[in-house]
Amino acid sequence: MEGTEEIHALVSSRSRPRKKKFTKSIQDEARYLVQNIENENGKAFSPRDRIGKAVSNIISIVVFGTRYDYNDTPEMLPVLEEAVRLGEGPLSLTNLARFIVPMKKMLSLVDRLYSLIRQEVDRHRQSFDPTDIRDFIDLFIKVTREEEDPEVYTEWNVFRIIVDLYLAGTDTTANTLRWSLVHMVNHPDAQKRVQQEIDQIIGQGRVAKMEDKARMPFTEATILEVFRLSTVVPVGGPHATSETTNLAGYTIPKGTVILGDLYRVLHDKNNFEDPYKFKPERWLDDDGKVVKSDKMIPFSIGPRVCLGKGLAEMEAFIFFTTLLQSFTFKVPEGEKPPDGVEGLNALTFTPYPYNVCAVRR
Ligand code: HEM
Repeated sequence: MEGTEEIHALVSSRSRPRKKKFTKSIQDEARYLVQNIENENGKAFSPRDRIGKAVSNIISIVVFGTRYDYNDTPEMLPVLEEAVRLGEGPLSLTNLARFIVPMKKMLSLVDRLYSLIRQEVDRHRQSFDPTDIRDFIDLFIKVTREEEDPEVYTEWNVFRIIVDLYLAGTDTTANTLRWSLVHMVNHPDAQKRVQQEIDQIIGQGRVAKMEDKARMPFTEATILEVFRLSTVVPVGGPHATSETTNLAGYTIPKGTVILGDLYRVLHDKNNFEDPYKFKPERWLDDDGKVVKSDKMIPFSIGPRVCLGKGLAEMEAFIFFTTLLQSFTFKVPEGEKPPDGVEGLNALTFTPYPYNVCAVRR
């Protein structure tokens, strides 16, 4: 189905022009984030919210074709956040969810979200040009006009996809970046090595691009280690067996719900030595080249692997390198270093609240 393919290509940044467009948006957003942090003038601050806003702006660009100023959050984002908070907790993945989640409140939030998205669709209709597909909403308008699969491309489904993209694409990547700063302030030697690579390959005169990554093995290894140690999605999405199957001597009946324990795989000492230690070097061979591992599954595996993997990897690389190109991050005087292993386990794995100082390089 052409429409579905296009939607996949749009979000997974598979097509070349899209990739270029996304790269530019991420580079611009990384600069806005740097400017925002610069306003702190080296004083202690919490990077939490501004990282969240920078990352959610990337999804806003994919979906609505626009970013928002960090002080001017559109109504939709707090409404979405509240809906996520209501649905949070380990039991939300079980059948008990309907007794735990306050459904009346949830439904009123869903109503509000739906009407906000509808307003955006209407705004897009007014300036729609089929030869210039700016974002996800335009793509939706295009496929509905072409009357392809009207039962699939309903406004309700579009609403659900948009909510999914914000849910899956914001806190995950934002938490990866929040963890990356935790590890950098706790491991100044690793931070310095990344900065040396940045200085050598990128310098101070331009912003990072994805082509740089292949020439920056220590930086790549550092990002891989953040993805591994700080598994932001500890448990994969629920799936079900399509037929009765046998695994390690256990019979699993058809239709059984299966949750992948990604955290366990990434912290198993048989897969990774000293699994709770932050060791970017584990990803480098004797020649300093990055080694891959089939145990490295923070995005899960198989046909339902994370749809946003490509986008998330681009964001992690460009945001991380731009931040370290501009600043050295430190634990503020008199404050305890942040916890690099334990964190808050909600739908995604978040570091405990912490402050940093960002010293301009
Ligand atoms: C560090 C960042 C991210 C991590 C670690 C991550 C991880 C994951 C994992 C583990 C899954 C579950 C796969 C499964 O069901 O087995 C998933 C699904 C998904 N992710 Fe991500 N993700 C990240 C960023 C993103 C971004 C930026 C987007 C949006 C563009 C996104 C969109 C999705 C979607 C739509 C799914 C559901 C795919 C499906 O069910 O077919 N993710 N992700």
